[in-house]
Amino acid sequence: MNQSDFEEKESKLLLQGESLFKTFGSGESQVKVLQGVDITIQTGEMIAIIGASGSGKTTLLQILGTLDTPTSGKLLYKGADLTQTSEGELSEHRNRRVGFIFQFHHLLPEFSALENVMMPGLIAGNSRTDLKNEALTLLEQVGLGLRCNQRRGERTGG
Ligand SMILES: Nc1ncnc2c1ncn2[C@@H]1O[C@H](COP(=O)(O)OP(=O)(O)O)[C@@H](O)[C@H]1O
Ligand SMILES: [Mg+2]
Repeated sequence: MNQSDFEEKESKLLLQGESLFKTFGSGESQVKVLQGVDITIQTGEMIAIIGASGSGKTTLLQILGTLDTPTSGKLLYKGADLTQTSEGELSEHRNRRVGFIFQFHHLLPEFSALENVMMPGLIAGNSRTDLKNEALTLLEQVGLGLRCNQRRGERTGG
């Protein structure tokens, strides 16, 4: 492989998990969930993680999304080790580079649907007007345009 092939391959590397282990609890109640997971995700790649209920999918996704930390192992974003990154920098990483769709709703109850959708962009300091237009478009796409001013308690969980 010549130098330019090598550089192209390197620049496509997005996220790498190296020898990820995750154990919950200790002693008799210890659960070894991840036991040496290696995963490489390239830019633009679409990946599905499948497995039986309780096999560790959510645990792995939370570690890849930096919402949880591995017991041991490394997580690299474009070559930089996220397991050595401060909480503040990780918050910025999640805000700017990661999109989460949770299995349960994690909406802020004191804000409307529109404000909840705008929230990551507001935290990133983007223009309020642009964010409002974008958020409205997104809510309309999923049929929630008319409910955009409702708060969490006024909508169904689904
Ligand atoms: N915070 C936790 N504390 C203790 N055990 C946990 C915790 N989170 C997950 N587990 C256990 O880890 C295993 C994998 O869970 P999970 O990652 O949620 O699996 P999946 O998403 O594939 O259904 C299960 O046995 C679960 O009970
Ligand atoms: Mg799960």
